[in-house]
Amino acid sequence: MEVLGIDIGGTGIKGAIVNVESGELITERYRIPTPTGAKPADVANEVAAMVKHFNWKGVVGCGFPTIISNGKAKSFGNIDPSWVGVQVDELFSERTGLEFYIANDADAAGLAEIKLGAGKDVSGVVILITIGSGLGSGVFVDGKLVPNVELGIVGYKEYERFEFYASDAARKREGISYKIWGKRFKKFLDFVVRTFSPDLIIIGGGASKKIDKFKEALEVGTPVIPAKYKNNAGIIGAAMIAVQ
Ligand code: BGC
Repeated sequence: MEVLGIDIGGTGIKGAIVNVESGELITERYRIPTPTGAKPADVANEVAAMVKHFNWKGVVGCGFPTIISNGKAKSFGNIDPSWVGVQVDELFSERTGLEFYIANDADAAGLAEIKLGAGKDVSGVVILITIGSGLGSGVFVDGKLVPNVELGIVGYKEYERFEFYASDAARKREGISYKIWGKRFKKFLDFVVRTFSPDLIIIGGGASKKIDKFKEALEVGTPVIPAKYKNNAGIIGAAMIAVQ
């Protein structure tokens, strides 16, 4: 079955039509910058532009960068605070006339990796970390998702959230090298390992393509590997949500 998968992030909205059984992208991936401020009406307009780009008429699966419970945003992550309480599936459905299924972006990326990618057939605790505008986390136990585990928003030292210290956005904002940033990211991974004793950690998000630049950060006494689908895991998993 083919589904339009959309991965909404703090800086980009990425989409493609996906074969949900094989995980293959049927089309080129298309990217639209997240509108400045990322307010609900503006993001909904870009989601409609994405649907139009693919001339899509079927169901849509969407990864969204906040806590999502039954299609509703329960936090605002790195987007506009006015998202809290918004029924995201209804907002996008009303704007496009199509049926939408929504999940947290890291949970969606994790789903693609656990079903078809780097975490396939791995039992025990598997955690996918997305490195991007924030630090997202998807936690799986014996292949089953524990939804909305938010490891990036836990505080660290003077930082209100770990992601303000160790996300890719933090690296860019502070203009630090991968070497220095890698030390920060390692602190985050150490915290994840201490808290969950995972059997495997998978790295996704934009920075998963650059993993060679921060290899030392990944030596945390637990296997840490890149996502099979790299940054496309979010699109593939988003499409998979629609058929779960
Ligand atoms: C949000 C998470 C999200 C992550 C990555 C964080 O700010 O709280 O829900 O998964 O950013 O987008």
